[in-house]
Amino acid sequence: MGILRLGYVHVRAQDLERTRDYYENTLGLSLVRREPGRLFFKGWDEWDHHHLVLEPGGAGIVKFGLKVASPEDLERFEAGLERFGLAPRRMSAGETYAVGEGVRVVLPSGHTMELYHDIEFLGTAVGTLNPPPRPRHWPGVGVSRLDHALLTAEDPALIERLFTEVLGFHVSHRLVTDVGPKGRLVATWLFVTHKSHDLAFIQGQPGKLHHFAYRLLDWDAVRRAGEILSMDDVPVVFGPDVHGLTRGQTIYCLDPAGNRNELFAGDVETAADFPTITWTTDQIRHASYIARFLREHHFSSVT
Ligand SMILES: [Fe+2]
Repeated sequence: MGILRLGYVHVRAQDLERTRDYYENTLGLSLVRREPGRLFFKGWDEWDHHHLVLEPGGAGIVKFGLKVASPEDLERFEAGLERFGLAPRRMSAGETYAVGEGVRVVLPSGHTMELYHDIEFLGTAVGTLNPPPRPRHWPGVGVSRLDHALLTAEDPALIERLFTEVLGFHVSHRLVTDVGPKGRLVATWLFVTHKSHDLAFIQGQPGKLHHFAYRLLDWDAVRRAGEILSMDDVPVVFGPDVHGLTRGQTIYCLDPAGNRNELFAGDVETAADFPTITWTTDQIRHASYIARFLREHHFSSVT
């Protein structure tokens, strides 16, 4: 079966309580556990114990976790990571609350990745028997679940090879400098589900986070999210807009620590047999679609 999804991200926050307030009351996550120096959150439509852990100190990503389908997958991936030249280590059950034993590895991109099979099951806010389409009363935006993350890597091609050859991901989109033989891979969008991507890597400093994204229902939810972000004085740094690349409907904002979040809906579906879509850097303005001329026109043009 292999990897099921991006299960969790641990990110740093300078001011844990202020950041808690944003994730709990602006985005509408549930705070499910407090430990000294750690806050655990889940979305209303998620089954597992948590998808977000806030840890103290600055901003950025501490680690991320991929949930696998079976214990046998852990052994298989551990061997594959070793064959790739990496140094996976076993992690014990309970090192992170509610998460069972797994495999931890530092990627060539500098990120710490964990593979795990077991995590405590809490269930969603609407359950499994005749569930309503959403909870009737819910604070803030009410994001339903973690969707994907975009990380930086010095060598995206190496990361793409690792995720496809060892971990069973497929590539939905690639950004290259040129389609010819001299073209260089700038970014890669990787999936194991039927979404446009579960993880993506773009060329940049090792170990950094560009953003992690939450799932919204549709374009109207993106618009409503923008209203709530504005009400709560959250810095909106892009959108609402439509991506050419992935066709996602989107808005980006910053949490109080400066970590970038995307609130995302409506992206193209994928399947393992679909061809990879290629974008070239000279056409990147079309990747972010409606707002591509916004800055230069809106802020510099008068008639
Ligand atoms: Fe994204």
